[in-house]
Amino acid sequence: MTDRYAVFGNPITHSKSPRIHAAFAEQTGQNLAYEARLAPLDGFAAAVAGFRDEGGRGANVTVPFKEQAYALSTSLSARARAAGAVNTLTFAADDVLGDNTDGVGLVNDLTGNLGLDLAGKRILLMGAGGAARGVMPPLLEQGPAELFIVNRTAAKAEELVALAYSQGVGATLAAGGYADVSGRFDLVINATAASLSGDLPPLPAGLFADGALAYDMMYGKDTPFLAFARREGARCADGLGMLVEQAAEAFFLWRGVRPATAPVIALLRAN
Ligand code: ATR
Repeated sequence: MTDRYAVFGNPITHSKSPRIHAAFAEQTGQNLAYEARLAPLDGFAAAVAGFRDEGGRGANVTVPFKEQAYALSTSLSARARAAGAVNTLTFAADDVLGDNTDGVGLVNDLTGNLGLDLAGKRILLMGAGGAARGVMPPLLEQGPAELFIVNRTAAKAEELVALAYSQGVGATLAAGGYADVSGRFDLVINATAASLSGDLPPLPAGLFADGALAYDMMYGKDTPFLAFARREGARCADGLGMLVEQAAEAFFLWRGVRPATAPVIALLRAN
């Protein structure tokens, strides 16, 4: 029997997840099938229930359903609870287990593929939506000297920091608007939707420390943020590595086997 998995989103046609999981399955000798499924904007829960009834074993969840996936999970991992969003569902007998592998995916890309040591570093995280919220806890676990959350709407960044404090983390956490960004950072992460609309958030010049990395969670095209960072002398990375790493963590949750990610990242870059 071939075990079945799927990714649910809207839109979903350009998802790379089926190719990533097919490559993982081939590499590890796991017998599984993985498909992309379009869920109607008002029919996510029904789409997931239908797939489960067909014998599906688990699912990934992407935009705009991660909060709904959180709501329908009957059991949540600590990191899903901290993120307030779920990107990986595992169907058990009577349970739907919700987890979030986005944050660990980013950290594994930064520390493994890109060779960063985040301990004692200054990190600037741009954005205060679901994407930023999901990566904040695992970034803090790396022990940075400071994590500054900057957002166009400063109050939303301050809310995120207050939430982190209430959950017992955040000794090195601060928040504000773009006018409050000062000093130099070793890592600047773009978790805003600004790249989607071709916008550059109003970052000050001179914010990158020597050898700093600029990371855009978007992938597949050069963004205004990465172009700015390159002009400022920073090293640049897009979010393709994070995409593959979050998939690898989901694959591990489902199958108990950790696939090698480097060959899959290389395969996607070659295309
Ligand atoms: P996601 O789940 O992808 O994080 P979201 O919850 O809609 O999506 O959050 C989008 C984030 O991108 C927000 O932090 C938003 O800033 P506001 O909270 O001020 O709206 C940020 N964002 C979107 N467009 C932006 C732009 N042109 N410049 C700067 N920030 C932008």
